[in-house]
Amino acid sequence: MSEEKEKVVWEEEINTLIKKSLQEVHDFSKIETLKKKYLEKGGIISQFFQQISQEKDLQKKKKLGELINNWKNKLAAKIKEIETKIKEQKSTKELEEKRVDIYLEGIKIPLANLHPITQIIQKIYDLFLQLGYQIVESPEIESEEYNFNKLNMPPEHPARDMHDTFYLDTNLLLRTHTSNTQIRVMENNPHEELRVITAGKVYRRDEDDATHTHQFTQIEGFVVGQDISFSHLKGTLELVLKKLFGESHPLRFRPSYFPFTEPSVEVDAQCPPCQGQGCNICKKSGWVEVLGAGLIHPQVLKNCNYDNQRFTGFAFGLGVERLLMIKYGIEDIRHFYLNDIRFLKQFNLGYN
Ligand code: FA5
Repeated sequence: MSEEKEKVVWEEEINTLIKKSLQEVHDFSKIETLKKKYLEKGGIISQFFQQISQEKDLQKKKKLGELINNWKNKLAAKIKEIETKIKEQKSTKELEEKRVDIYLEGIKIPLANLHPITQIIQKIYDLFLQLGYQIVESPEIESEEYNFNKLNMPPEHPARDMHDTFYLDTNLLLRTHTSNTQIRVMENNPHEELRVITAGKVYRRDEDDATHTHQFTQIEGFVVGQDISFSHLKGTLELVLKKLFGESHPLRFRPSYFPFTEPSVEVDAQCPPCQGQGCNICKKSGWVEVLGAGLIHPQVLKNCNYDNQRFTGFAFGLGVERLLMIKYGIEDIRHFYLNDIRFLKQFNLGYN
């Protein structure tokens, strides 16, 4: 074969391979094999380089070298381009597979609710705020003076029998009712007209049973002003209790006795589970006591430096657990303190 002929064959052969390799490159699945076959050490292109390195004709060597070099660069660029495309396709596919549907409803995390006692206190506060009352707090650790003496319960008074409590020393005790609030607020604001509501824990040496615990919760409210009468007390209690139990729920006002109010009453609500027929909750009476109340005793007003000729007032104190028991037909007060989630999660009074 003449030299010219041989050169053409080389070129032809290379050009055919160039065409072939650039066509093969379109088969994405063979890209790795192609890299090995053409580009890597020992591949077709490096074999060609080796072959032409023996070439004596420098011009021919240069021309073929350029041709092979171009081929190598073109093929490498094409492979790179295809690899990028493959990568892009892969990530698009992955994104599509892992697509986040932003309209999907989220995972619901079960939220705890406030304890029913806390919720009912907030509900009652809301009712009294609408009547112009202010919320106050007073101490659970109290002196005999504020828990008893200034409320007309001096030592040896028989009413103290029902208010035995836990003493911290001879004078300090855990309060037996929230009525200490009356003294603390009036004493600090003598001659002021007042509408006050408070809630908190109280303590007594009571035997625990279905309706009694040694620690329970009371809400105390009182009003001091001029010409405050029993009808203001009755109207207020009826309004609030009907809001809590329902408009037509039967209520009963009974005469009673408290050393710090005169006259005094206790208010009963008809027992809801038995509808007044008599059951274990109401001890067969058909009624459950909710609160004690009365007109503030003139001596108590005087004890707090009020002019009892000009000022009168009313006060009431209700048992929060008892109120919830009546409202929801709960047969045992101890459920409130057992922390049984099945019991607690039944209460959603809209105050969570
Ligand atoms: C008093 O505590 C008075 N301070 C209420 C009062 C305030 C009267 C202002 C007049 C003026 P009494 O001891 O009745 O009253 O308790 C009030 C309410 O607390 C009761 O009606 C009852 O609902 C609740 N209660 C009393 N003892 C217990 C107890 N051991 N366990 C749970 N609730 C109780």
